[in-house]
Amino acid sequence: MIVAEHLVKEFRIAERRPGLLGSLATLFTRRHRLVRAVDDVSFEIPAGTRTAYLGANGAGKSTTIKMLTGIMTPTSGRCLVGGVEPYRNRQLNARRIGVVFGQRSQLWWDLSVPDSFRILRRIYDIPAPVYRRNLALFRELLDIDALGTTPVRLLSLGQRMRAEIAASLLHDPAVLFWDEPTIGLDMVLKDAVRELVNRAHQELGTTLVLTSHDIADIAAICDNVLVVDHGRVVHQGPLHDLLRTAAHRTVVFDHRDGTSAAEALRGIETGLPGVHAATGDDGRIRVEYPTGRYTSRQVLSFLLDRFDLADCYAPEPDLEDVLRQIYARPRTPEPAEDGTP
Ligand SMILES: Nc1ncnc2c1ncn2[C@@H]1O[C@H](COP(=O)(O)OP(=O)(O)OP(=O)(O)O)[C@@H](O)[C@H]1O
Ligand SMILES: [Mg+2]
Repeated sequence: MIVAEHLVKEFRIAERRPGLLGSLATLFTRRHRLVRAVDDVSFEIPAGTRTAYLGANGAGKSTTIKMLTGIMTPTSGRCLVGGVEPYRNRQLNARRIGVVFGQRSQLWWDLSVPDSFRILRRIYDIPAPVYRRNLALFRELLDIDALGTTPVRLLSLGQRMRAEIAASLLHDPAVLFWDEPTIGLDMVLKDAVRELVNRAHQELGTTLVLTSHDIADIAAICDNVLVVDHGRVVHQGPLHDLLRTAAHRTVVFDHRDGTSAAEALRGIETGLPGVHAATGDDGRIRVEYPTGRYTSRQVLSFLLDRFDLADCYAPEPDLEDVLRQIYARPRTPEPAEDGTP
């Protein structure tokens, strides 16, 4: 459904020199610096999937979404949404997509929400039953009527986001591009937004590309992830595969032995060097092990050998930890032309 092929976007930024003399010099001789916001990105997003587009601040997520929605043209490479290059066929593309940019309104600033919706209905030529069904859904889940006839520019951030989300879904688009759609929303509304998109996915097979710094959003909505780092894709695939790349994993257990907690912890840390064992608030022992050094099988068989286990489970690795690990990685330098690093 969505394809990016060697997508590159560069920005030319005028460099300012420091100090007063520097400012004067800047007026006469402008020096420019190139920022490669998206750096040779290729990916494929199948129809009907819900993909989280993740990366640290400045990683190039919004820039990519701007190219996919047709707002920006790539410096090189290309992207396709449903077989169409968005920046070459903006109108055709716009009919099939729904867009939310949390940082930038898609609505008419001086119009009220009901007026905006009436215009959108005309623009997209939305059939009456679809329009009615969607409005009823937005009333129920986003309390859209409460926004009244206030012009969009006077709405609070959370109120505006409700309108933006509804507007992006109004015409039953095949693809949703949501760039930080839940900023400013309280917990109840975040739940409602998750329900809306999950319903669209189930009932209409809508494809979603979502960026969010809210890990709970990602876990509640997305089945796939695309992780970009310094403009490059560093991971693409199912969310659970990303979790498997965690540097540490944990096993939690209870035992029926008479050994004291301190003794048990010491025994684990001596028997498995590099492992960290601690007693949790619930009295159970948590064993955190580096995945590069031990397999879960090794850790489990060690524990089974040592203890009379009463209960034992391995929680999913924390997505936040996995992402922190990726975002904190220094950028790998480009190999030189002759192949030397
Ligand atoms: N219009 C622009 N002109 C110049 N540089 C830009 C422009 N838009 C983005 N950039 C630069 O491109 C890089 C990527 O920005 P982008 O907004 O795509 O990041 P992001 O991944 O969406 O980050 P965030 O998580 O903070 O939203 C940044 O270094 C940014 O400063
Ligand atoms: Mg962004």
